[in-house]
Amino acid sequence: MIAIARAILVIAVTLAAIEVQAQAPAAKGPPPLPDGKGKPLVEGICSACHATNLITNSSGYTREHWKELTGYMIDLSNNKAAQDEILDYLAAKFPPNTRRTPKLVPGKMEVAFKEWVMPRLGQRTRDPVQAADGTIWYAGQFGNLIGRLDPKTGEAKEYDLPPNSMPHTVNLDPKGRPWFSGNKNGSIGWLDPATGKTTVYKMPDPEAVDVHTITFDKKGIVYFTFQWANMIGRLNPDSGDIKLVKVAAERSQPYDIKFDNEGTLWVSCNARPCLLKVNPDTLDITEVKLPAGATTVRRFDVAPDGIIWYVNSGGGRLGRFNPKTGDITEYESPSGPRSHPYGIIVLDGGVWYNESGMRPDPLVRFDIATEKFQSWAIKSGNVYAGILRNARKTRQGTLLIHQTATNRIIEVIPKNARVAQR
Ligand code: HEC
Repeated sequence: MIAIARAILVIAVTLAAIEVQAQAPAAKGPPPLPDGKGKPLVEGICSACHATNLITNSSGYTREHWKELTGYMIDLSNNKAAQDEILDYLAAKFPPNTRRTPKLVPGKMEVAFKEWVMPRLGQRTRDPVQAADGTIWYAGQFGNLIGRLDPKTGEAKEYDLPPNSMPHTVNLDPKGRPWFSGNKNGSIGWLDPATGKTTVYKMPDPEAVDVHTITFDKKGIVYFTFQWANMIGRLNPDSGDIKLVKVAAERSQPYDIKFDNEGTLWVSCNARPCLLKVNPDTLDITEVKLPAGATTVRRFDVAPDGIIWYVNSGGGRLGRFNPKTGDITEYESPSGPRSHPYGIIVLDGGVWYNESGMRPDPLVRFDIATEKFQSWAIKSGNVYAGILRNARKTRQGTLLIHQTATNRIIEVIPKNARVAQR
């Protein structure tokens, strides 16, 4: 992944010289693009933010849908010839396919999707979270920004972060301040929307890279994970004190982080079959082993009854862990072992998550009482593209999700569940 500034430069240079020289693909070893007119342009322009394997692995689109999809990433309208060449190439080489088609499960519940498109193109919109006043904060990871959407007017204001922050997430502390993780520059900070100024805390250890997900205790002490550094951190925003601990087992890749209802901190492992139980005062860690096999866990949520529901992303399953008894049950996700469940939230008797390995990216609901699944393709304009990476709930009892490739924030309103009707 290269910086956006360079991406823009690449685009400018490439478009200036229509007779483009083939550029080396940006990433290490994605499958080569098939030959054809337009290939050099696609290699030059489309690998600026991500490797071209997102194209070769995609579900394929018609020309019209390629136009819509790429229009969420880059504006090529000032060079119609280049745009035509790219779209002709994509439509010819990557027409719609069924390689990643999910198994959608019909059912009785009806949901409505309400969508908002965020302004900055190709920003990787993610992790929307609702503030007390109803506005919605989100991170634009590739855009190096966090933004605030007013769902009443549909207007969004985006705030640039210090260079190379590349925020992995945004979350609100008990005072309502939006905190972001400086994923690429080893920092964590918060933004004052009144002034646009950020208060940034640098990690005291250069090894503390990949600052990831953030949570808070009731007093506003900040807790966060580091995937690649294999660490968990704590920050006292008043004193600036930062404490970091290493996870004993190598390459656990600490990922999601949340408090349970009794004040114990939990962390999921994205590279090994484990959950980590963390004492927030001492940061002592106890490992809970999950069923072996391909098990890796991106995210989890704690239900009101204390049960921890987790996505077994590597194994394509939904997991239920009872911290009181240690009992673990796993359920195969409807689209199977390669479905890669990702974001998850417990809401009103159901566990909601997505199957990010599939296209469309399905939103799945597991009914806790009946143990039945139902799923829907997440709506995102006229194209199905991108991933839900973190689900949250709103104050009105609905679901707040997103799609990364189409700059979408989406509210999911279950119509006939026991949620607040509106
Ligand atoms: C300014 C950044 C940027 C540029 C330039 C860009 N993309 Fe993307 N693209 C994104 C983001 C962000 C995603 C979502 C990635 C994720 O969630 O990991 C994405 C995802 C995709 C996907 C996968 C969609 C899916 O369902 O997972 C495809 C296909 C794609 N891009 C095609 C292209 C093509 C073709 C071009 C060139 C015309 C292009 N991109 C240029 C930002 C960009």
